[in-house]
Amino acid sequence: MTALSRLRLKWPILQAPMAGAQDETLALAVTAAGGLGGLPAGMLALEALDQALAAVEGQGPVNVNFFSHASPEPQPSRLEKWRALLAPYHEELGIAPPPPSDTPTRRPFDSDACAIVERHRPAVVSFHFGLPEAQLVERVKACGALVLSTATTVDEARWLEAHGADVVIAQGLEAGGHRGHFLSDDLSLQLPLASLLPRVVEAISLPVVATGGIGDPQGVRQALDLGAQAVQIGTALLCCPEASVRAVHRRALQDDEASTDITNVFSGRPARGIVNRAMRELGPLSDEVPDFPLAASALCELRAAHESRCSGDFSPLWAGQNRRHCREVPVAEQLQWLAGELEEQ
Ligand SMILES: Cc1cc2nc3c(=O)[nH]c(=O)nc-3n(C[C@H](O)[C@H](O)[C@H](O)COP(=O)(O)O)c2cc1C
Repeated sequence: MTALSRLRLKWPILQAPMAGAQDETLALAVTAAGGLGGLPAGMLALEALDQALAAVEGQGPVNVNFFSHASPEPQPSRLEKWRALLAPYHEELGIAPPPPSDTPTRRPFDSDACAIVERHRPAVVSFHFGLPEAQLVERVKACGALVLSTATTVDEARWLEAHGADVVIAQGLEAGGHRGHFLSDDLSLQLPLASLLPRVVEAISLPVVATGGIGDPQGVRQALDLGAQAVQIGTALLCCPEASVRAVHRRALQDDEASTDITNVFSGRPARGIVNRAMRELGPLSDEVPDFPLAASALCELRAAHESRCSGDFSPLWAGQNRRHCREVPVAEQLQWLAGELEEQ
């Protein structure tokens, strides 16, 4: 029995945890439909994490997802420069910029979050941006959870295998949201899924989950044929009513003319989203951006003001390259369709 088959899923389909775009409603609906629901915890305060885990407890397996980035050093002069770059956009709307803040909007997984995980004992815990320190990985495993993390290169997959992951998620360049890299920030090392996946499968002996641009039954089948034991799907589930995608984001997802690119302007780390004004005029990749996640707070008023005018010009519109089948149907129906070429497990 492999690590993933322990979960006894009907379909080898994981729902990508998507911070800012969903909560436990989507996760529980996916698990009820026979996939593995994903609960993003990277932006939750401890109390909210406790409540979210209580809400999913006892309702089938769920994957709780954390960030494991290194906390940035304070960088007042970089933040000041970033705020100066954003000043003309505030003036244009006649709004005040938010007060300077070096409080991160996303916390890395730590001992306090781990204590909450230990209390609720979810079936799966996944990490983005590597793994937390060894002691924390051991504590998570000791409460019975499978540990997953993302690799964007073969070197990262080997590193995760050597540092205690049970399953590696191979993230192709097509993927929406943050790139999961943690060994090198050289994006030219990262490959599309069809090139990355067979290399990762060959390089490690752990089960591999494929993610990035998978959005139809053929894509699911192809990833399994290339050696993945399961797929992880994000963008193709974003328009399901159980997700909580904001209106400007939903509209952009359904705009056939829109294209995606990788940008660091919204958080300080590269992530794929639908190209908008902030990406065009400040990036898409900027050297002026403060380190992850400090860039985000300086943009919050611009984002809110534009969204109140029904514009996503300053919002992170995370999406993968394949938006063709982002359908507004219940997630159970979308999952059943995506699994259409598979045998029930
Ligand atoms: C809106 C959105 C938010 C995301 N947030 C997270 C997150 O919080 N944690 C994480 O590990 N991955 C996150 N991702 C990345 C996914 O785990 C996954 O790599 C990606 O969705 C796969 O590509 P696809 O969107 O083309 O299916 C996010 C992706 C999207 C689209």
